[in-house]
Amino acid sequence: MTVDDLAAEARRAAQQSYSPYSQFRVGAVVVDSEGRRHAGANVENAAYGSSICAEATAISGAVARGVRRIEGVAVACIDAAGVDVAYPCGNCRQLMNEFGVEWVVVTAGEGSEVRRHQLSDLHPYGFFLPG
Ligand code: THU
Repeated sequence: MTVDDLAAEARRAAQQSYSPYSQFRVGAVVVDSEGRRHAGANVENAAYGSSICAEATAISGAVARGVRRIEGVAVACIDAAGVDVAYPCGNCRQLMNEFGVEWVVVTAGEGSEVRRHQLSDLHPYGFFLPG
């Protein structure tokens, strides 16, 4: 799968977003160490702080299916206006850190840029429990 294919799949995943409060649809696709893909989308809540990011739903779904190592994650913020790409929040970068994510593909809506980064560039010195 090319980065453009992954970006397209993340954009499709964003169609399932439940975001009536922000109207900001985000999709994510996790690629696990076996090459299997797991899609997710942001799920908001009337208690705003209970909302869950797309990356978190995709990662949780994969982990709940037994995945323990993730190669990469593609993220698409399809309602991001006026930006070339949109980047994952800090909390989601730390969620990626836990499962050994190496690369992150980021994009916005159809026709926007697609960039691939190393997680170590987006989230250097991530937290691991010492010992
Ligand atoms: N959101 C994500 O799904 N991923 C991110 O990395 C940042 C933000 C969602 C959360 C909320 O539903 C909406 O975008 C607006 O913040």
